[in-house]
Amino acid sequence: MPPSPAAAADRLLVAGNWKMNGTRALARELAAAALAAARASPSVEVVLFPPTVLLDEVVRAVGPDGDVPVGGQQCHWAPEGAHTASVSAAQLAEAGCAYVLTGHSEVRRELGYDDARVRAAADAGRASRLRPIVCVGETEAERGAGAARAIVEAQVDAVFGSRSAGLEADVAYEPVWAIGTGRTPTVEQAAEVHGWIRARLEAHGAPRSRILYGGSVAPGNIGGFLSQPGVDGVLVGGASLRADAFTALVTAARAAADRRRP
Ligand code: 13P
Repeated sequence: MPPSPAAAADRLLVAGNWKMNGTRALARELAAAALAAARASPSVEVVLFPPTVLLDEVVRAVGPDGDVPVGGQQCHWAPEGAHTASVSAAQLAEAGCAYVLTGHSEVRRELGYDDARVRAAADAGRASRLRPIVCVGETEAERGAGAARAIVEAQVDAVFGSRSAGLEADVAYEPVWAIGTGRTPTVEQAAEVHGWIRARLEAHGAPRSRILYGGSVAPGNIGGFLSQPGVDGVLVGGASLRADAFTALVTAARAAADRRRP
């Protein structure tokens, strides 16, 4: 039984989303590095999102102690059934997952997940006791048109709004134009969006949800993002595929956590 991620809510979170990358050998190498980094940095929660087919390899490599929780990159909204090529939340949970990403922009774009499906997928995750990390973010054109705030708030509202009790889930702010491009918003721009998201989460009864930043996070820029009190962690793509870079990110997060201590 994976540990409850909520128990770690006061730690900074560094999550690696491997996307459609990796072999079994690389999975073992990255999982071992993540485990060592997590054990060296107890003030940081380290989470891995491998491809579904590598989950068993990673779960075995990180061991049963819960030092490195694992998550699925996506789940279907339905509990089971005729949905060729999809994976259910229950299957992820049985595979040892504690988390699931929902609404990643690549899933929205390539698999056609709109806000309603993202909400339903998050609900499916909760029904299987997974903690969803709901990904939101504007495109470059939307930012250019001055619509970033409206887009991000609508994506948050669609998943967290109209509920009798707050959704137990986290949010990742991933501007689409910053994913895999080497470009990032300024630290101040990211902090501004996190503030918008925080206000919506409070309005929806989810004040304890963490808000991560994602999009071209690297060892050279993580410190800036984590210097902002409204940034509770990072969701990392490309840099999570190199053991040395991912270890450096966890070490930098530990330093940021140390600086936050009163
Ligand atoms: P990169 O870190 O490669 O920009 O990817 C970010 C991302 O999409 C994480 O989910």
